[in-house]
Amino acid sequence: MGEAPSAPAGSPSSVRPLKVAIVGSGGVGKSVVSATLARTLARRGRDVLAVDLDPNPGLAYSLGLAPSDAGLPPETTIEVKGGLYGWGPAPEVDLATGAMTLSRLAPDGVRYLSPGKIDGKTVNKSEVKRCLGTVRLLVDHLTAPWDIVADLEAGTTTPYEGYARFAEVIVVLATGSWRSCLAARRLCALLPSVPLVVVASKTAPGASDAARWGLPVQHHIPFDPEVAAAERRGLAPLDACSDAPALSAVASLADLLLKVAP
Ligand SMILES: Nc1ncnc2c1ncn2[C@@H]1O[C@H](COP(=O)(O)OP(=O)(O)OP(=O)(O)O)[C@@H](O)[C@H]1O
Ligand SMILES: [Mg+2]
Repeated sequence: MGEAPSAPAGSPSSVRPLKVAIVGSGGVGKSVVSATLARTLARRGRDVLAVDLDPNPGLAYSLGLAPSDAGLPPETTIEVKGGLYGWGPAPEVDLATGAMTLSRLAPDGVRYLSPGKIDGKTVNKSEVKRCLGTVRLLVDHLTAPWDIVADLEAGTTTPYEGYARFAEVIVVLATGSWRSCLAARRLCALLPSVPLVVVASKTAPGASDAARWGLPVQHHIPFDPEVAAAERRGLAPLDACSDAPALSAVASLADLLLKVAP
């Protein structure tokens, strides 16, 4: 096991950590918001763990991290009867610190933790199945006062299966399409009773009126061609267009989350 990375110099140890899950239907901007939020918090001197709970690629790209299909090192997981997909942490893994020691360094000092990606060739033994239960346990048990920003799989299934259990605030994204608003309404009705922040993402201003959405929209992230172009070029939006309005909107989302989180 590696050593836990030390806190960045000047990191405020008494800061109450922000534990946030980002949910919503497919393509609403979960990975862009998760990555940008994680890096924005880290730039403010906070210790941040970005957790990829989506077996499809996304968060690493948006963070500006070389993507990898690999999950946790093989020696950190063992087959466990009753574990998620039959796997769990090896006895040597310390649940309280494993999320830190097994994470990778990402831009701005963010730590990145992933159960790996779906491997189409060996679906039944995929990295995700081997590592997912352990990653979830590590996130739930992390004791260090680190912010956690988790990018969940699209849709309602994994949020209902408790993947956001660690979260003290949940961001529900929708774009205004009927499908994304339906998913957002269902998520708001059935998610755990922590503060929920509904965000209109990739929308034009004014496209988030409550009558159309059936939800009180609390924040707005504009559709931003610079963000879309950066991602098409394989660049993290914060590296390619740091002054883009959508990224400023994510920075103000960080302020809002810090206010509403318990
Ligand atoms: N504010 C924005 N303005 C313009 N394009 C955006 C914005 N946010 C995200 N995008 C683009 O929309 C697409 C989907 O974004 P992203 O991958 O973050 O969504 P997602 O919800 O994580 O999707 P998935 O459900 O597939 O994981 C990407 O091409 C991304 O570059
Ligand atoms: Mg994504």
